[in-house]
Order: sequence, then C-alpha cells, then structure tokens
Amino acid sequence: MAQLWGGRFTKETDQLVYNFNASISFDQKLYKQDIRGSIAHVTMLAAQGVLTEEEKEIIVDGLKGILDDVDRGVLEITSEYEDIHSFVEANLIERVGEPGKKLHTGRSRNDQVALDMKLYVRDEIKEIDQLVKELLEALLQMIEKHTETYMPGFTHLQKAQPVTLAHHIGAYFEMFKRDRQRLEDIYHRMNFCPLGSGALAGTTYPLDRELTASLLGFTGPTLNSMDSVSDRDYIIELLSALSTIMMHLSRFSEEIIIWNSNEYQFVEIDDAYSTGSSIMPQKKNPDIAELVRGKTGRVYAALTSVLTTMKGIPLAYNKDMQEDKELTFDAIDTVKGCVALFTGMVSTMKFKKEVMEKSAKNGFTNATDAADYLVNHGVPFRDAHSIVGQLVLYCLDKNISLDEMSLEEYQSISPVFEKDIYDAISMKTCVERRTTIGAPSKEAMEKVIQINKEYLLKNACILD
Ligand code: ARG
Repeated sequence: MAQLWGGRFTKETDQLVYNFNASISFDQKLYKQDIRGSIAHVTMLAAQGVLTEEEKEIIVDGLKGILDDVDRGVLEITSEYEDIHSFVEANLIERVGEPGKKLHTGRSRNDQVALDMKLYVRDEIKEIDQLVKELLEALLQMIEKHTETYMPGFTHLQKAQPVTLAHHIGAYFEMFKRDRQRLEDIYHRMNFCPLGSGALAGTTYPLDRELTASLLGFTGPTLNSMDSVSDRDYIIELLSALSTIMMHLSRFSEEIIIWNSNEYQFVEIDDAYSTGSSIMPQKKNPDIAELVRGKTGRVYAALTSVLTTMKGIPLAYNKDMQEDKELTFDAIDTVKGCVALFTGMVSTMKFKKEVMEKSAKNGFTNATDAADYLVNHGVPFRDAHSIVGQLVLYCLDKNISLDEMSLEEYQSISPVFEKDIYDAISMKTCVERRTTIGAPSKEAMEKVIQINKEYLLKNACILD
C-alpha cells in the first residue's frame, strides 16, 4: 500500500478498504495526462517563483523519465499504489529525491483528476470525431455511386414510396454529421482548465492559472474552483453524444440485418464481416451489425449510470465521482470500435440493385404517383385515391404490379388512363420528379452531395 496521506492516521488501512477505495486498476489509463499536467504545473510554479528553476528542471526530467519508462514497458504501474497520481508522485520522489516532494505544492488530487479526465476526454473526442468523419467519407462514396439505385422507402416498415439507395444512406449521413457537430460543441464547451482550483477553494500560492491553461492547450482557466473539481457535465454530455452515435449505428445495423435477410436480400455483407454457425452449414450471420446494435446498451448504461451517480452529490468533490472513469473509458472504447468496424462493414457490403428495384415495384410504391397522374388529368385527388385503390386491389388479386397491368385493364377501371401511365409510374419517374432540396431525385441529391463534399473539406477535424 503506497498512500499519500498517512500522516494523521494511527492505523493501517484495512486491505479490503484499500482495495475498494483504490482506482489504480483503471485510472492508470491516465498516466500520460497526469504527467503532462504535472509538467505544466511545475513549469508554472517555477515561473511564479514558488519553485526554483533548478527544482523545476529536476522534477520535469524525472517526470519525463517516468513517462518514457512506462511507455517502453520498463516501469509497470502496479496495484501497490492507490491511484495514478500516487504512482507518479511516489515514483518521482524515488527517482529525484527531495525536489520531487514539492511537485504537489498548490495542488490537490481533486483538481488533478479533474484535469486528467479533461485532457483524456479532449483527445478522445478528437479521435472519435475522426472515426465518424471516416464513416461519413465512406457513406458519401456510396451515395455518389447509388443516385440511380431505386429501392422502396418505408414507413411502418411497409413499402411507401420509391427512393434511391443514395437518398436512404444520405439520411444517415446527416445523422452522423450532426453527431460530429455535437462532439465539436462539447469540445469547445469543456475546454477550460481546472488546474489550480486546489481541493475546492483555490490555493494560497500565487498560481498563474492562465499560464497552465495555455501550456495545456485550453481556452482559459475555469472560473469557479468548486465547480472545477466537481464538474462532470462534460462527461455526461459526451456520453449522451456517444449514446446518440450508437443509436444511429444501431438503427443502421438493424436495417442492414433486415436487408441482409433471406426475405429481403437487398445486400450481402462481405464474408470478412460475417460469421458462420457451428451447426447450420448454410448460415452467414450479420454478427457485426448485431453486436453494434447490442453494444448500444452498454453506452446508454454509462450515460444513465453517471447521471445517477452525480444527481445527489453535494459540492464539491466526493469520492462517488471516481465512478465516472471505468464507464467513460468503456463507452469511448466501445464507440471507437463500433464506428471503425461499421465503416469497414458498410464499405465492403454488396448492394443488389435489381432486387431493390423489383421490391420497390412490387410494393406499389408508385401508387401515389398513379393518383397524381389522374389529378394531372383533372380527376379530384380524393377520387384519384379511390381509383388507384381499386387498381391495387385488382393487382393484388392477380399477383402483379401496377406496371404489369395492360392499358385495357387500366381503362376498365378509369378511362382517363392513357399509355403514358407506364412512364408516369416508372421508378425512375417517381424518383426524378421529386426535385425539391432534400428529396431523392438525382438532381436534388447531386446538390446535397456537393454541399456535403464541401462540408467534409471544411470540417476535416476539430480545431482548437
Ligand atoms: N481516484 C480519485 C477519482 O478518481 C482521484 C481523486 C481523489 N481525491 C480525493 N480527495 N480522494 O476521483
């Protein structure tokens, strides 16, 4: 047991209590951030005359040595230490002796852990943003390729009106674009430095909080020391944004699972992204899509868990907050894994264009357009709706689609039909006549593709 706070205690901590309290098993993930924060802190202490230049040099060298040794696997982070902060400080003192004992001047583990988590989350937001951007790039390529791949659009999972695959995927493009915007918002809102807040009430040392904030790439220092050590809003916001990303991935996965089923056969997932059955030789299962859908639950769980943990905590720091870490780390790793795999899966998936188009035709997705045809020939919409209803009934009885009816058959139901009805209800016409921005026609889609290409160029990454 290596603790930083033995002085006022007369007994050893009970081993079970020690284990229960310790966070080293998971907060060791923060060693880089902890060392980076410490280097900024002592640099500032020296600039303010609290430490000498020489002491600062010794401490910084020692900290860099620890970083290097941990990176190279020479120094192991073990459960002998309570948390990552104790590990770094104890190692420093072991390495450099007396000056090492000055590292913690004007600092508390409360502002230290608040800083470490912010540094960690900030880097991860950038990484997740890049992964979502790569997904958007893959989607945009698919969109460009499929502006004339006709398929049924659904409402209530019932075939509704024809759209294109580009249009359908384009819906997800907009969702993931908003996901990136959310990440960027969070990044800028959280980018204020808590270091220098002390345990809760600032410190009596002449700290230069602007300096540490700028050394660590923050917009500035936080403005209330009690808030600084107890704020976990940004974690909740991140978990909420991650939950939304997972919700989008999960919806898309659900569609892919349906499309990949024997009944639909709209797509075929690449062998590299499918798995087999141990008993049924014919099976090729969409496990990756299912797992992405399934893992959505654990990211939601992290969000509800941190929200619940935070809801009854009085100001300022309380140990409850230690619970944020495993949940946040797990949610971040889960989302990164899911986004990357999903990108690979969708970019290698084969779309069966003919099946999709046939399905659109067979589902009477052009029925609205047949009614519009009658309206254009002077029939009131309500009557047109009823006439097309009769056509559909007729087709259902004969097990044919609207475009398979003969002109005589059409005219026996309404004399208004002429032979241009076939062109009016072709999938191409149905789609191409929908030209308003946001609609599926090639013309409208091309405008949106252009806008989104520019968006990707202008938003290559989150800028500080
Ligand atoms: N392991 C703690 C956490 O994750 C670090 C802060 C400890 N501060 C304290 N006063 N015990 O929140």
